[in-house]
Amino acid sequence: MTHVFHRDPRNRYPLAVRGDGAYLVDAEGRRYLDASGGAAVSCLGHSDRAVIEAIQRQLDVLPYAHTSFFSNEPMERLADTLVARSAGAFDKVYFVSGGSEAIEAALKLARQYFVERGEAQRRYVIARTQSYHGNTLGALAVGGNPARRRQFEPLLIDAKHVSPCYAYRGLQPGESETAYGERLAQELELEIRRLDGDKVIAFVAETVSGATLGAVPPVPGYFRRVREVCDRYGVLLILDEVMCGMGRCGSLFAYAQEGVVPDLVAIAKGLGAGYQPIGAVLASKAIFDTIVGGSGFFQHGHTYLGHAAACAGALAVQRRLHEDGLLVRVAPLGEALDTRLRAEFGRHPNVGDIRGRGLFRGIELVADRETKKPFDPTLRVHARLKQAALSQGLMCYPMGGTVDGARGDHVLLAPAFIVQEAQLDELVEKLARALDSTLSAVAATA
Ligand SMILES: Cc1ncc(COP(=O)(O)O)c(C=O)c1O
Repeated sequence: MTHVFHRDPRNRYPLAVRGDGAYLVDAEGRRYLDASGGAAVSCLGHSDRAVIEAIQRQLDVLPYAHTSFFSNEPMERLADTLVARSAGAFDKVYFVSGGSEAIEAALKLARQYFVERGEAQRRYVIARTQSYHGNTLGALAVGGNPARRRQFEPLLIDAKHVSPCYAYRGLQPGESETAYGERLAQELELEIRRLDGDKVIAFVAETVSGATLGAVPPVPGYFRRVREVCDRYGVLLILDEVMCGMGRCGSLFAYAQEGVVPDLVAIAKGLGAGYQPIGAVLASKAIFDTIVGGSGFFQHGHTYLGHAAACAGALAVQRRLHEDGLLVRVAPLGEALDTRLRAEFGRHPNVGDIRGRGLFRGIELVADRETKKPFDPTLRVHARLKQAALSQGLMCYPMGGTVDGARGDHVLLAPAFIVQEAQLDELVEKLARALDSTLSAVAATA
């Protein structure tokens, strides 16, 4: 009997007792290869001594000092590092404790920026369908996943949604990727105009879509066109890199591969790598200066923002990425994983698409590869696959509703940057076995 209100109270969860590199170990001694970093969190695996010791050292000297009284050394140094690595795009870092909080802070910062500029009429946020930005009410409102939103609709702010950049299903026959990106940018522009242009605060998008679409990179040029449209109407571009940022796609910031710079970027997950809960919003100088030159105060704040031990952990993560060469491993390892996935699943009758960037990969599962017809959602293919993978000793991150929030299944892969090539073989073998057993079980019930 448990007194924990678990995520899914009907589920019986194994007890995780130990981390060992790319593996987690449960109380029965079973080892699980963590091929998804939980939910794209554990980018350094589960037993990084340098990060653990940095946190321990910080706890010995100063665990916490409330940021309305003090600054603290690791918070200052972490902000320096992130700003320096943003190549002039950002000047300030607002720390929080996770991804949803980062999105909430970004939304409020964007709104306050316009209030300070005398543009208080700006009130709408535009985001994309099939997106995920977190579960707090503001983040949920901008998120475009119907299942997560449905029962909370009366509590949600009125965010607007346009189509995601999802080439596998969105690209029309004969349409080039450039034309597709252009069409999506036009849809955004039409929506901004429908809202009178000067009533829009921001467009929010995941640079590479994560949990709800399954590691979908944008088509080339899409974000450049989006940036132009935003600029034309004075709309801020907020990129959500909570999942895809901090090296996951091969560069510290995923937007660096798109040739654009957002006005605000939200990060979390890989920032703390699971060693401490931490998130952040990076803000452009223009936004910061407007607020400081106006009311002088960002009307926001949380008790644990800039937590010293969390910042010390995140600072150590940054050192591991840059000084110990873990970030440069991501792109080649990602290619190695992609090659293996294509070799194993490239002709699989139930694999419609293999996609992603760096160590952020997705496989979309379909009932029919030719027509792209998804599985009947009542079969819950994704949920079965998750269990089948766990029983193979593999953590992966399958999700349903890929197509429209109800239909569709995909599996997200986000292994640690320390993963070895042999472990990529293990990953693909275990995933193949899990998929086989899932599809046999599905066939037996269909
Ligand atoms: C893109 C994106 N934004 C925001 C969030 C919310 O982050 P958190 O769960 O840390 O609140 C997530 C979580 O999966 C995410 O993937």
